[in-house]
Amino acid sequence: MRQPLVAGNWKMNGSLDSIKALVEGVKAGLDSVTTAEMAMCPSFVYLPQVAAMLEGSSISLGAQDVNDQESGAHTGEVAPGMLTDIGCKYVIVGHSERRSIYGESDEFTASKFAAARKAGLVPILCVGETLEEREQDITGQVVARQLDTVIALEGISAIGDAVIAYEPVWAIGTGKTATPDQAQEVHAFIRGKLAALDSNVAERVQILYGGSMNPGNAAELLAMADIDGGLIGGASLKPDDFLAIGRAANA
Ligand code: 13P
Repeated sequence: MRQPLVAGNWKMNGSLDSIKALVEGVKAGLDSVTTAEMAMCPSFVYLPQVAAMLEGSSISLGAQDVNDQESGAHTGEVAPGMLTDIGCKYVIVGHSERRSIYGESDEFTASKFAAARKAGLVPILCVGETLEEREQDITGQVVARQLDTVIALEGISAIGDAVIAYEPVWAIGTGKTATPDQAQEVHAFIRGKLAALDSNVAERVQILYGGSMNPGNAAELLAMADIDGGLIGGASLKPDDFLAIGRAANA
């Protein structure tokens, strides 16, 4: 059985005060989440604050991005070892906002994935198609290409130590969620693709759904056979909503 993972991607949101209230609010209701692992991915600058607040709690810490180099002259970037140093377990790589707004390629994403693993982090690898790609009926091709670049660099077994997040770009921050059937179709495609290379890896890897997931739609998405959790944007900024999504994964 794969344990569900519900991870909050706070994106470029928060302040010292609002983050304190958010973490305290989630911690206060955490007993009601019985099955899922919960994780929080704040902006880099708030990682130490959140790490301190999460000490002794079961909530995991993650970062939203990472550089692919270990150290050196990369002004403004954050190295994988810095993230483990500060207590991160997870790091998101290849989020569609990195790919589309900052032009990050499949190859750069794969290189970040490799660097994250080398430093002992668990990468949360984001894949997903744009609306245009869905309308062209090439969702499978796009997702396969994004996965294949990582597999070519790191091998299939590396995927077994990572988490995959399927985030249809057209569903992110738009209020348009993929229907459970639409999401399940792509999740099953991903697992099937991995199974063709290594059935143990396919069986083990958690595949999260991301894109306007909220307390109203979480239960039916999480009930699908190949949806093992969520990567939550907007709803992860509200303690009650984030907890409600966590509870939707209760066994
Ligand atoms: P929303 O939940 O705000 O649509 O964001 C999803 C996302 O991009 C998580 O990484």
